[in-house]
Amino acid sequence: MKIAVLSGSPKGELSITLQYVRYLERILPDHEWEILHISRDIQRLEKDPKAWQGVVNAIAASKAVLWASPVYYYLVPSQLKRFIELAGERGVTEIFREKYAAVLLTSVHFFDNTAAEYLHGICDDWGMAYTGEFLAEMNDLAREEHRRNLLFFAGEFLRAAETSVPVARRYEPLPAGRPPCHHAFPGALSNADALSQADPPPQASNTLPRAPRTETRRIVILTDGKEGNLGAMVDAFAGHFPEPVQIVDLQELAIQGGCLGCLHCGYDNRCVYNDDVQRILDTIVAPSDAVVFAGAIVDRFLSSRWKRYLDRSFVYGHIKGYEGKQIAYIISGPLRALPNLQIILEAYAQVSGGHHVGIVTDEEPERAAALLVALAERMIRSIDARAQAPAPFWGTGGRLIFRDLVYRLRGIFAADHRFFRRNGLYDYPHKELGNRSFQAFLSFLSLFPPVRKNLYGRMKENMLMSIKPYADGKE
Ligand SMILES: Cc1cc2nc3c(=O)[nH]c(=O)nc-3n(C[C@H](O)[C@H](O)[C@H](O)COP(=O)(O)O)c2cc1C
Repeated sequence: MKIAVLSGSPKGELSITLQYVRYLERILPDHEWEILHISRDIQRLEKDPKAWQGVVNAIAASKAVLWASPVYYYLVPSQLKRFIELAGERGVTEIFREKYAAVLLTSVHFFDNTAAEYLHGICDDWGMAYTGEFLAEMNDLAREEHRRNLLFFAGEFLRAAETSVPVARRYEPLPAGRPPCHHAFPGALSNADALSQADPPPQASNTLPRAPRTETRRIVILTDGKEGNLGAMVDAFAGHFPEPVQIVDLQELAIQGGCLGCLHCGYDNRCVYNDDVQRILDTIVAPSDAVVFAGAIVDRFLSSRWKRYLDRSFVYGHIKGYEGKQIAYIISGPLRALPNLQIILEAYAQVSGGHHVGIVTDEEPERAAALLVALAERMIRSIDARAQAPAPFWGTGGRLIFRDLVYRLRGIFAADHRFFRRNGLYDYPHKELGNRSFQAFLSFLSLFPPVRKNLYGRMKENMLMSIKPYADGKE
């Protein structure tokens, strides 16, 4: 059987993920695995019709499709995202219809699930029969048990394709007319001044502690374009601040290409490309108090241009790039129908150390103006209060994965390592000497039945020891 392998790594033959495919090719030689270097060749595929047609023909001639990609920033690399967009723009998604599909991703298990869900959604949108995913840690291939699991996964995929096993779809089609999605939006919004005519939202009393603010607020909006609903929403939002808001249009930036996965930046936070991405990050994003990400939904994510910017921000590795900053999103498109994207947006704010202020979309055009006013006002209060919130599961779990990764690979992520050390981010529990001694003491005491009985009998009270004084007003 012929399987088209859509390789998502910009590293081509040096891709880690591709080694998994090469292993399958060696163990399962009865099948023809046609490797298509989508991400490596994306610029050629975009410009050279012959190269594009070659890929289209190869996919059309295959019985099944294997997406084999690294995870980049909660998704696949921008280059593979661009390929997915091109397939839509050039009207060739029909070649995928009814083909069996599977996803093979390698990563460090940081939001590999959202990347897989994205591809699953695309397969459903294109009428493919999605059979499952194999989400490997990058070095899993070196372990026998994982190779066995990989073979089982591949066996199920091939069997499904060969015997036409019925497969259920997971995702509803996106709402009609999208993408691209540009609702009719009140014309008044194209003029920010007219916002004053919108009914202001009821003022909630501000219970946040307010630090007196002497300096002006520095707000930056990163947007993918200034046209249509998105441009109107960005203008309206920006117009609501008393100080000038800096608007950076990604379409006007010189970005030489997507992340190459070379990890040169690991040493000193410098990218091999010398273009606008690093300049924007250093001179505009870094000194800001608040960053607003504005974009239109393209398929099941934002645009590949947005993705390219995000991937390239890997130049700052695994540090909390938005620590102490206020984060908000302005989105044009059917975000409510995309819970996976909602998770990514929320998690991105949490993991990067920012405070997530909110999201406004154009899904309810008649309310969007008021929602933007409310978001801007909340943003102002959040900046003034230097608001921060606890990071729930995604933020906390994600940070722990980064902490262990940077420590384990500190020879490569040298810049991250310096940052983590300087800022006390290697907060392993075994380094808390006081607590270690206390727990050892408790373990010893628990050996004695009467003490143990007392300890566990008063467990609920004991668990309140460190926080109750605050509730009782004794601290
Ligand atoms: C720009 C960039 C972004 C990455 N983002 C993620 C991520 O979000 N989650 C994750 O688990 N790994 C992430 N990784 C790690 C890669 O997914 C991992 O190293 C993968 O095995 C590389 O595969 P490849 O050699 O086939 O490209 C990222 C790596 C790079 C260079």
